[in-house]
Amino acid sequence: MVENPFIFGKVVSGEHFCDRVEELKQIKKLVGSRQHTVVISPRRYGKTSLVINALERSKTPFIYVDCSILEDDKGIVAAVLNEYVKKFDNIAIVEKFLKRFDFTFSLSLNPVNVTVSHVKIDSLKTLLMEVSKNYVLVFDEFQDLYEKDKTLVNKMRSIIQFLDRSVIMLGSKRHLLDNMFLKPRGIFYNFGYALHLEKIQRPEFKKFIISWFNKTNVKTEASDVEKILDTTECHPFFTQYFCHFFFEKRLSEKAPVEQTLQDILQMNSAFYEETYRSLPVGQRKALLLLSYGKKEVYSADLLEKFGITSSQALQKALNALVKKEIADKNGTYHILDLFFKHWLYGKTLKVANQAV
Ligand SMILES: Nc1ncnc2c1ncn2[C@@H]1O[C@H](COP(=O)(O)OP(=O)(O)OP(=O)(O)O)[C@@H](O)[C@H]1O
Ligand SMILES: [Mg+2]
Repeated sequence: MVENPFIFGKVVSGEHFCDRVEELKQIKKLVGSRQHTVVISPRRYGKTSLVINALERSKTPFIYVDCSILEDDKGIVAAVLNEYVKKFDNIAIVEKFLKRFDFTFSLSLNPVNVTVSHVKIDSLKTLLMEVSKNYVLVFDEFQDLYEKDKTLVNKMRSIIQFLDRSVIMLGSKRHLLDNMFLKPRGIFYNFGYALHLEKIQRPEFKKFIISWFNKTNVKTEASDVEKILDTTECHPFFTQYFCHFFFEKRLSEKAPVEQTLQDILQMNSAFYEETYRSLPVGQRKALLLLSYGKKEVYSADLLEKFGITSSQALQKALNALVKKEIADKNGTYHILDLFFKHWLYGKTLKVANQAV
């Protein structure tokens, strides 16, 4: 049985990690020069995979913390500690390490787990200073902390600026990250290097996909891969997702690329239908309009085609969709879930001249 080489929904590494040659070099260099770094991209472009691969390949010891599930000092202390103690298999060393700090904790074994019950004002600082003597700290979804507690983020800043090693922060909520890192009054303005991660380059992605089909002896043509990349717009997650199902299908039959798209849309249609139905009519119309993929969304032709009364009405609907994280504005407005976009496009063809 051939294992499906196209992986989605988790960190990819080794042979399953495509390209990013320049970005890997860049991170290695930034870490080497002890620069703090923020990696910014829309969701599922491959930030976490990139940073983890860069650090692993350059054999840089690091502590990874996902901030999306943390709320306060105590949470950060516990998360950093639990990652830290995993690095040791000698419990005596762990105990000795923990005794140096002023927080209240309990330690359980098999697997080693530290529960922190109380922290003092300087606990976070002393822990991060100690840990960063030997480890690069990686704070994923860092902007989530800013959303929850700006004072805590201020505190983090004042600590991070004195750390020995690089701190890498990752995030996808563009407006928050811009406020924090790029605006002159932002907490982290001029604090470190901002790396904006783009989609994977088309020629690299094409080579990657073809080489996996060749390696596994599963038949595909270069023209199929071109069609896949047209459909997925080289988005790392959606391309892997599409290739996964296409590969699965190709194991048993010579189905065309279009069939895989139809299968994916069919598989998710209940969810898409529910999302669509839950929206007010104005936002539904705006979504259908976006599914057309035109850059000039406010053109009179488009407004008329989708029965939208004014550009103000469209603006309002688009803002609401961005807030709901269904659409995003990155230069131009677009629907975040590419397959939802394809589903909506199919709907615009079906419902042309009917009520939305
Ligand atoms: N360099 C890559 N090569 C191949 N596939 C990739 C690469 N980077 C990302 N992917 C694909 O995208 C998916 C998401 O990657 P990852 O979780 O690293 O992105 P992210 O930007 O951290 O996402 P999120 O916004 O959800 O945190 C992976 O599971 C994989 O399918
Ligand atoms: Mg991530």
